[in-house]
Amino acid sequence: MDKIEIRDEHDVVLARTAARDVAGAQGFSVMAKTRIATAVSELARNVFLHGDGGYMEYEVLREGNKIGIHCRFVDQGPGIPNIEQAMQDGFSSIATLGHGLPGARRLVDDFKIHSEPGRGVRVEIIKWN
Ligand SMILES: Nc1ncnc2c1ncn2[C@@H]1O[C@H](COP(=O)(O)OP(=O)(O)OP(=O)(O)O)[C@@H](O)[C@H]1O
Ligand SMILES: [Mg+2]
Repeated sequence: MDKIEIRDEHDVVLARTAARDVAGAQGFSVMAKTRIATAVSELARNVFLHGDGGYMEYEVLREGNKIGIHCRFVDQGPGIPNIEQAMQDGFSSIATLGHGLPGARRLVDDFKIHSEPGRGVRVEIIKWN
């Protein structure tokens, strides 16, 4: 897996660009490319904004003739005490839109989020072309 450290806003752009470029190189449609890039951007932003920084790992998946991209976001910040609440549209602890997590979930094919309070958050997404 390739890895990108996420410490600041610039790293969010790097993560977004990496996802878009890998998707492009694998022949993803413009729509699929934009969707994965946007989801990555939101999740990477949460890593640095809420999770005190962390990293994204990503890889290309092949299943038969399907091609996908798998990304994993890991931080060791405060974690999310109530994931169900955090996944609701419009929930934010910092008075922004609170659309990042539910928006990202809608943009990809597979979305898993795991958090142990006090030990950070791990999010895994898969987008198939
Ligand atoms: N990596 C994380 N670590 C700790 N808390 C998180 C993390 N990601 C999300 N959260 C919590 O979940 C809430 C919802 O996240 P979401 O991305 O949906 O909205 P937001 O980041 O507050 O606003 P937006 O993404 O719309 O700018 C956040 O306000 C925060 O409390
Ligand atoms: Mg967010």
